[in-house]
Amino acid sequence: MNTEQHIKELREALHRHNYNYYVKNAPEISDFEFDALMRELQQLEEQFPEYDDETSPTHRVGSDITKEFRQVAHKYPMLSLGNTYSKAEVAEFYERVQKSLNEDFEICCELKFDGTSISLTYEDGRLVRAVTRGDGEKGDDVTANVKTIRSVPLVLSGEGWPREFEIRGEVLMPWEVFEELNRERAENGEQLFANPRNAASGTLKLQDSSIVAKRHLDAYLYYMLGEQLPAEGHYENLQYASQYGFKISDTTRVCRTLQEIYDFIDYFDTERKRLPFATDGVVLKVNSLRQQLNLGYTSKSPRWAIAYKFQAERALTRLNEVTYQVGRTGVVTPVANLDPVQLSGTVVKRASLHNADIIEKLDLHIGDMVYVEKGGEIIPKITGVDTDARFLIGEKVVFTKRCPVCGAQLVRNDGEAAHYCPNEAECPPQIKGKIEHFVSREAMNIDSIGPETVELLYNTGLIKSIADLYRLEACDLYLLPRMGAKSAENIVAAVRESLNVPFERVLFALGIRFVGATVAKRLARTFQTIENLMAADVVTLTAANEIGERIAGSVVDFFSAESNRELVRSLQEAGLKFAVDEESSEGRSETLKGLSIVISGVFEKHSRDEYKNMIEMHGGKNVGSVSKSTSFILAGANMGPSKLEKAQKLNVSLKSEDEFLEMIGEI
Ligand code: IVH
Repeated sequence: MNTEQHIKELREALHRHNYNYYVKNAPEISDFEFDALMRELQQLEEQFPEYDDETSPTHRVGSDITKEFRQVAHKYPMLSLGNTYSKAEVAEFYERVQKSLNEDFEICCELKFDGTSISLTYEDGRLVRAVTRGDGEKGDDVTANVKTIRSVPLVLSGEGWPREFEIRGEVLMPWEVFEELNRERAENGEQLFANPRNAASGTLKLQDSSIVAKRHLDAYLYYMLGEQLPAEGHYENLQYASQYGFKISDTTRVCRTLQEIYDFIDYFDTERKRLPFATDGVVLKVNSLRQQLNLGYTSKSPRWAIAYKFQAERALTRLNEVTYQVGRTGVVTPVANLDPVQLSGTVVKRASLHNADIIEKLDLHIGDMVYVEKGGEIIPKITGVDTDARFLIGEKVVFTKRCPVCGAQLVRNDGEAAHYCPNEAECPPQIKGKIEHFVSREAMNIDSIGPETVELLYNTGLIKSIADLYRLEACDLYLLPRMGAKSAENIVAAVRESLNVPFERVLFALGIRFVGATVAKRLARTFQTIENLMAADVVTLTAANEIGERIAGSVVDFFSAESNRELVRSLQEAGLKFAVDEESSEGRSETLKGLSIVISGVFEKHSRDEYKNMIEMHGGKNVGSVSKSTSFILAGANMGPSKLEKAQKLNVSLKSEDEFLEMIGEI
């Protein structure tokens, strides 16, 4: 079999297995076998770039090219839906349709998925464009990001699909993925996403599609548009779409009476809580496309469809007190302490009040009867006050001026909603939080010390800062309540073991605001030693790969505090790693600093991966596709014709293997 044919067959097989896994939930081969096929295809594509194809399954991993999104006009505007909140309003919609049509009709009932909408265009069975809703007239071209969603077919299966059509749907972040993402963000001291909807739309707008690929988005499609659709009914078109490989919800039903619609609503008002993703209502659509056309549109929404929104679960209870929590980065969060109340199956006693602005907007007073809601969010929140229930007005809630634990005067930075306690070095919850972060798995991985041990060690005065961890001796620990000799020794051994943790993780463990694991890695690679990093100013820092001003400012602030410099000194004395290892820094240079380099074609002296490493070792950046910001193309033999054409058009130069090796001093 020739190579081109083999590549084609591998792609078809991978598309099919991908569909079985992500759409049908019924894989036929193991993950291991899938990965092996994918690797084989990747290798062949690297070797024979002339057979590259935009819809190859290898494109689902995303690339790290950053670019602004292109705005694209929608062929058919993306309208919104009229909202209803009661069955009476649903009946009004039904009767309006009945009166206008004056003939039999069916209503297709669907779940209203709570994500972010997307419009996909397919031509000749291939995904050519994915555009966000934007302002309804034009949206952002997020094709590269959507390609990373495994349930979106890049090429269609089955047959008989229209040559050109659009299909619209909702990009979702399943609950499980959302919770994991927030856990990670909390660990890194990053701001949490309020709900899966925000997380999905935020992710879709990321410039780096390789990060999008890691976020595991999903997509349900619910609306097919085009001039030559396969059927006359909306529901029937969706069934065809399912045969073409799209993920269509199997909860959709065609109803013939108002009662059937009510039954659907009632059933899913309860059942939706068991679904793995968020929904916020039901969408009702007149099924016949001819009847849809007859009913037409208002300026904002179709007359043939309406959304029924589920009542967010809400309870009324008394506000007894507002207390404040201090996180490891010093952020002070107000918490409402409530009379216990039953809400969506759990008893709620506390709810977040987020920040000072929200308290002010609610005009809260102690003793108020307040509404608590559990929307898409995990933490319940206060959404309003029943002012009619006020007969004696209590004390007005005013955001605290001082840290509830250490008493320091709080600060609020311009443009930020949060208040901070600035007493980083002495405020107990900040110190304990920082130690917890320091020992956590992704940081120093001292797993024999959990939050309870940190509490114990801190309260008994055995440790007052991170550096004290390295002064612990088994005999001190042994005296603590509930601590056996074995656990004491384990702790000391784990602390000693952590001296081998590489610099990049030590840097992350320090808990500098906005410096998560990835940023720490980048900083370590760029600056190599803590001394270089501490000496860097905002300008030097922002010149480094993908370090923005916010991160740079935070790094400079951190190292300008004497207490933090002292911490670094103590940890250096204890023997922690504050420079990248010799073997990983050997042969490094800055020769290619600031250059974006594309690798294309087949090489004789080194493999592609080796060239990729060389680019990074010499401070350059390897990018996936040619753009006007590409510095040059490292071109081997048989470079793909499309890349060549693009390079010529954008005036990007080519360098041969030898020219490149000469540049970095290898020959
Ligand atoms: S149909 C013209 N169906 O709700 C009709 N929309 O306010 C176009 N949505 O922007 C939309 N689930 O993001 C439709 N089953 C569903 C839906 C749905 C969620 C969203 C969509 C749209 C918004 C309408």
